[in-house]
Amino acid sequence: MSSGFPDRRMRRLRRTEVWRKMVAETRLAPEDFVYPMFAVEGSGVRNDVKSMPGVQQLSVDCLVDAAGAVHAAGVPSVILFGIPSEKDAHGSHGYDPEGIVPTAIRALKEQIPTLNVWADVCLCEYTEHGHCGLLTSEGEVDNDTTLPLLAKAARVYAEAGADAVAPSDMMDGRVRAIRDELDGANLGHVPIVSYAAKYASAFYGPFRDAAESTPAFGDRRGYQMDPPNAREALAEVALDIEEGADMVMVKPAGPYLDIIRAVREMVSVPVSAYQVSGEFSMIHAAAQNGWLDLRRAALESLIGIRRAGADLILTYFAKEAAEWLKEG
Ligand code: PBG
Repeated sequence: MSSGFPDRRMRRLRRTEVWRKMVAETRLAPEDFVYPMFAVEGSGVRNDVKSMPGVQQLSVDCLVDAAGAVHAAGVPSVILFGIPSEKDAHGSHGYDPEGIVPTAIRALKEQIPTLNVWADVCLCEYTEHGHCGLLTSEGEVDNDTTLPLLAKAARVYAEAGADAVAPSDMMDGRVRAIRDELDGANLGHVPIVSYAAKYASAFYGPFRDAAESTPAFGDRRGYQMDPPNAREALAEVALDIEEGADMVMVKPAGPYLDIIRAVREMVSVPVSAYQVSGEFSMIHAAAQNGWLDLRRAALESLIGIRRAGADLILTYFAKEAAEWLKEG
């Protein structure tokens, strides 16, 4: 083979759709997706989340219907967030066995047994101050007193039938605390998907509308990661795996593709990435303005995350993307 042009023509294998498909180095399939859903109390409730087109807060009856449609599109898994009608200083609804998330898990597992159901574990949706843990009298998020509550929430979700628990709080030591609690409760079979490298990101904005979890004061930079740091992400991931994480997550995804790649190269456990609310809403907003094509931009954003090294993608595009992929 000669070293270059005119003998070597890179365009030859790009000429037709069939060639492009055959030589694609990365593939995207409905099985790659996990769809985030927001459960609220009541029945017949479908509240549009204004900043996230097509996303709704759903009461359990509606959530089961919606999850059925997602599952029918070929998406194997959903991750649940709960929005309680009452919040308190301790986030107690978050670990109440009759709370919104355990109720939703039981309904889903009963009505769609083959749907894989993950439960997000965090206190921010349940605390009146909106932080991810308990506060000290000085108003700081208190790592160690928060751990037993996160562990309890994880156990309650696992007892309700969750196929995985996914701590997103970024407290140190929470994976160990959750593993011990699950193992002690005869729930050794339930995996932990840890949000290991979760950055303090502006791209969570729309989610906080959806989950009603905006901190009442301050921000989350004292516990979530600082965007400039990459080596620190690898340290977080290594610690979580040591503590017992079965799968790790990088979040957000699009602005952190280098982190996904670095984590992929370091670990042997599956790597997931969360394409967060802001990434989703940005693409929608541009599409609504006619500035880009929704389908192409969404699929490109997803294949980019896969190419970076993610095995699974948590994405609000899951259902639509699965349908687009089936259309070919
Ligand atoms: C915290 C949590 C957040 C998201 C998932 N879990 C928000 C936060 O840390 O403020 C963000 C997801 C998204 O933006 O789509 N429980």
